[in-house]
Amino acid sequence: MKFSQDFIEKVRESTNLLDIASQYTQLKRTGHNHVGVCPFPDHNDKTPSFSVNEVKQLYYCFGCKKAGNVYTFVQALQGLSFPEAVEHLAQRAGLALPAESQEGAGVLGGFGAKEREERKLLWRINEFSSQFYHQQLLRLPLDHPVREYLKSRGLTAEMIAKFQIGYAPNSWQSLLQAMERQKVPLAQAQHLGLIKARSQGDGFYDVFRHRVMFPIVSPQGRYIGFGGRVLGAELPKYINSPESKIFHKGRIFYGLHETAKFISSKDLAVVVEGYTDFLSLYQAGITNVVAVLGTALTADHARLLKRYTRHVVVLFDGDGAGQAAAEKSLSFLLAEGLFPRALTLPQKLDPDEFIRQKGSEELLSLVERAPELFRWFLDRKLAHYHGTAADKVSVLDQIGPVLSNVADQRLRDLYLQQVAEALEVSSQWIQRSLSSQASGLPRRDSRQEKGTEAAPLQPSSPEPSESQAPLSLQNPPKAELFLVNLALARREYLAQIEASGVGEQFTHPGLRQLLGWIFERYRQIPSEFDNLSAYFASRVEPPSALGLHMDRQLADLNREGANKLISDCIQRVQRAYASTTTKQLALALRSQIQMGTTDHQDKLEQIMNVQRKRLPLKPESESSEA
Ligand code: UTP
Ligand code: MN
Repeated sequence: MKFSQDFIEKVRESTNLLDIASQYTQLKRTGHNHVGVCPFPDHNDKTPSFSVNEVKQLYYCFGCKKAGNVYTFVQALQGLSFPEAVEHLAQRAGLALPAESQEGAGVLGGFGAKEREERKLLWRINEFSSQFYHQQLLRLPLDHPVREYLKSRGLTAEMIAKFQIGYAPNSWQSLLQAMERQKVPLAQAQHLGLIKARSQGDGFYDVFRHRVMFPIVSPQGRYIGFGGRVLGAELPKYINSPESKIFHKGRIFYGLHETAKFISSKDLAVVVEGYTDFLSLYQAGITNVVAVLGTALTADHARLLKRYTRHVVVLFDGDGAGQAAAEKSLSFLLAEGLFPRALTLPQKLDPDEFIRQKGSEELLSLVERAPELFRWFLDRKLAHYHGTAADKVSVLDQIGPVLSNVADQRLRDLYLQQVAEALEVSSQWIQRSLSSQASGLPRRDSRQEKGTEAAPLQPSSPEPSESQAPLSLQNPPKAELFLVNLALARREYLAQIEASGVGEQFTHPGLRQLLGWIFERYRQIPSEFDNLSAYFASRVEPPSALGLHMDRQLADLNREGANKLISDCIQRVQRAYASTTTKQLALALRSQIQMGTTDHQDKLEQIMNVQRKRLPLKPESESSEA
């Protein structure tokens, strides 16, 4: 799944963001930027708020604050993964894919010739089997028990055809024999979990026997796996294809190939737990539906949904397992910047049963009124809450990790407010406990325990490649974020900030790391200064954190204003650093005294030093660093 850094850069250099963006919106030059109506579908832009800086190869929207480089742009607008975006832009620029990427990149066939051929073969074998199962079903007389069963579940001929539902005959070799007749390579069929080797001696046997078969098709229309349901009450109820070179349960939705278009057009996805719930919702006209395969939603699932919509209703079974899975999904959905809601059906019904009993209208109206998943989660955590101080801390401990992961800052603030109201505490109290838990300081990592002198700002770990997990810039302290953006705006600012040494006192681990990378890269390739922001935009999350310097607030600064802003920011960072460091040292000192360790002279001197450095600074006028 990897392209070399060189190739990624080469593609970027051969592509002009302005050309790409112009395909989506009309852009007019004004000053340094080209400006037009924001092309992102979730931003209903009335005025031209979207701008592209051709020199820096960066876009920024003053309205929805989206920002990034050409890769994040095509990823977001065309719903591509990073390797797919590289591949797409490479093709567009007429660049041949390099040999080393042949390890495999993207679903569009970036795999090496050999792997690609093998995957094609696996898809074909599944498709062949799917046709076989489907034919077996259609051959049965209408009054056959299997047909009766499907009828009893309300599955019409049209649904059976649309979703290629099939029947695996009650025999040990019917699929096997069909494969042998067609010279299907059996080793691959075995890899797919369609047949198994006999334990004694040679030969194979069918895995799916006397089951209703649901083929699983990828959004690209490829047959990647199966679920097979028993007709009676035997166990296991379902057999699913095993993980294989083409089937990864945690990354796929059943039915998405048919419903993606409805999810986009209705701008809402309803997620259910399994095949039958999916089919009954679809049949009842709720066609913007997908099913996970009996698991909780993963981060991959959330990313996949985000290609089509940001609005998600999680409609899981009313039983304990379903509720637990819904709860687990919450963090992933929020961390991807989605807006999740939750629907729990009464009397522990599953969606299929509910439609049978109450009808689809009723379900639809419940879907429309579904409360936010976060609110639902909070209410569940409040079930045993009695308002004691300990209760408040315990609820916050459970909710904190979810809250800290909310990608959309505005949403996070609103949720924080809700928690504050429910617990009858101030939002500052919550914010304080969250930032001491999550954002690092005062966190006692080894470096801080050794002493107050922060390690010099070095790129302590190498820059990640763009296809790796991005560096998190969530919940940045404002002054630190401004300084990073100022460093990206002009060479002079960068030099000034580097010379001040303020980066060593950054409290946000991500921003601290990033600033080190920026200095390092600029040292190595000074001529690439204009490219720095585009270069780092796909290595951080959210990329919009780096778009600030295109915001009018900063872009229109004159030299004098910039100087003032830089020194203000530096002072704020230093103050915050001094105060956390002092607290930490005092804490360390206290515990040493309690433990009876005698050499606290050393710690005391350190505190004095920090305080001395702090003295000449202006008194703290605001406390916006929280
Ligand atoms: P359920 O047990 O809720 O089944 O499992 P269901 O979908 O409602 O099926 P019906 O209505 O009894 O026919 C939900 C999902 O969990 C997965 C399947 O994807 C199923 O659709 N599952 C369940 C399995 O993978 N294996 C099992 O043994 C059971
Ligand atoms: Mn069911």
